[in-house]
Amino acid sequence: MTQTDPILTVAGLSKTFILHLREGARLPVVAGAGFELHAGECVALGGPSGAGKSSLLKMVYGNYRVDAGTIQVRDGDETVDVATADPRRLIRLRGQTMGYVSQFLRVIPRVGALDVVAEPLIGDGVAREEATARAGALLARLNLPERLWQLPPATFSGGEQQRVNIARGLIAHRPLLLMDEPTASLDAANRAVVVELIEEKKRAGVGILGIFHDAEVREAVCDRVIDVTEFARAA
Ligand SMILES: Nc1ncnc2c1ncn2[C@@H]1O[C@H](COP(=O)(O)OP(=O)(O)O)[C@@H](O)[C@H]1O
Ligand SMILES: [Mg+2]
Repeated sequence: MTQTDPILTVAGLSKTFILHLREGARLPVVAGAGFELHAGECVALGGPSGAGKSSLLKMVYGNYRVDAGTIQVRDGDETVDVATADPRRLIRLRGQTMGYVSQFLRVIPRVGALDVVAEPLIGDGVAREEATARAGALLARLNLPERLWQLPPATFSGGEQQRVNIARGLIAHRPLLLMDEPTASLDAANRAVVVELIEEKKRAGVGILGIFHDAEVREAVCDRVIDVTEFARAA
């Protein structure tokens, strides 16, 4: 294994949703999906709404079970197949290698924004004081007013929550980053900040697989687009 090996290799990936509330109706979402992602590269999943982009991202993160295929992630000297990894191995993989910026912030009751953002760093063993300082610096870059930092994000606007979510997802180093629509509710100034943050991650050698509806953001950060309808057509 060398540094030029992909950070992520997906092969023969297939999934069909079984709709139990619809008498077990089958909804094929992808069949035989395959692609590679390298360090320092940003790849967009493209295709219209309902094509299966978010589902594919959730399969890579291990949130959706797959019916067939492999999802190999390089984890230091090892390679982990997310499709078959046991839950503890998956948790370790997420802790050190694979990050996920979800579309919406999962609000934790009574925890202030600054602590929500600092938490992944503290989990990595960074001292609380340093973690909090770095969280503040990132929230400042994302123009989140300082008066909000101690407040729980539950009552924040959509755009404010999304910035807290992005900060939490980007603060710790993870060599593989999955992003689902990170800029959907942001204004132009904050979209530009996110573009900068993504470019910094790429320069640090992070491989990014994401869904970017905003064409300007996609063109700014993505090296290529994988059309998910190709995978759906076979399904
Ligand atoms: N958990 C689920 N159970 C059943 N069907 C689902 C589930 N998640 C997604 N789908 C269906 O799979 C298809 C692809 O959805 P999705 O991956 O969200 O598409 P996209 O992100 O490209 O808009 C849609 O038809 C959607 O309704
Ligand atoms: Mg989606």
